[in-house]
Amino acid sequence: MPATVGAAPDLVAVIGNTPMVELRRLAPHDGVRLFAKLEGNNPTGSVKDRVARAMIESALADGSLQPGQTILEPSSGNTGISLAMIGSRLGHPVRIVMPDNTTPEREQLLRLYGAEIVFSPGAEGSNGAIRMAQSLADADSRLFMPYQYGNEANPRVHFDTTGPEILEQVPEIDVFVAGLGTGGTLTGVGRFLKRARPGVRIIAAEPLPGEGVQGLRSLDEGFVPPVLDESVLDDKYLVTNRDAVIGLRRLLRDEGIFAGLSCGAAVAVAVRVAREMETGTVVVLLADGGWKYLSADLWTRDLDELEVELEGSLLW
Ligand SMILES: Cc1ncc(COP(=O)(O)O)c(C=O)c1O
Repeated sequence: MPATVGAAPDLVAVIGNTPMVELRRLAPHDGVRLFAKLEGNNPTGSVKDRVARAMIESALADGSLQPGQTILEPSSGNTGISLAMIGSRLGHPVRIVMPDNTTPEREQLLRLYGAEIVFSPGAEGSNGAIRMAQSLADADSRLFMPYQYGNEANPRVHFDTTGPEILEQVPEIDVFVAGLGTGGTLTGVGRFLKRARPGVRIIAAEPLPGEGVQGLRSLDEGFVPPVLDESVLDDKYLVTNRDAVIGLRRLLRDEGIFAGLSCGAAVAVAVRVAREMETGTVVVLLADGGWKYLSADLWTRDLDELEVELEGSLLW
């Protein structure tokens, strides 16, 4: 076949290398520059494309995943969707254990990519999905569970790709802010940046206990993911549901960025950190786009009404 110039061989090959944009209107004062890494620009719309690809490739390389073997994973959305896309391209059936109270868009996308969904009780949150997936995997040795919470390929792909991209795009970075879910992003990017640019601060955006912003977790609720290296965290800032929705709305209104709910939480923390600095450069990672949250109408509804209606829902 003749060589093509500038075309990727496959969708999986264009994962990563996401854009970095300056948030000039959200920066709280002139001394500080604020930048956002747009992970929603990945093929299935989230940072988890990097992780899903890395976990599958490393499992195929070390033989723990055999050709055609079924992949099972607990996920409240993004990782499951990424695994479903990549798994279907490589001929692996994908089964996702997902709480039954997430947005319908997640279920629609998983089904479009051909995944099977096993619902876990919504009231038990993502920890309930993890428990159910573990017992399914224990009962059937033919299933392969990548388990992003404990898989070293998760932080490693951020060390190898996300971190270097950030440093190349914003070499003067002083502070990195991201939401904490599995801790893979903060651990991998944090390890890379601390080695490459000593003095850089790594800050986690964490929901208050009981306020589960989709994709994020509070370490105070008892489960500390094995991949999280807490020694790279310089600080963690707590965010309320309200902060997350306000952050999400300001991203759209002030910067034109249509992002997911955890991005609202992360940007709320980034602005808070920037406000406390006299000078410097802050980079915030925005984990996904807003598409999977459209049905919840987070952008236009009355805030108090939203808070009441979504209380207890996994979206929060
Ligand atoms: C929407 C969203 N934001 C943030 C995160 C947190 O990323 P990490 O798992 O790398 O901590 C996740 C995943 O867990 C997520 O799905």
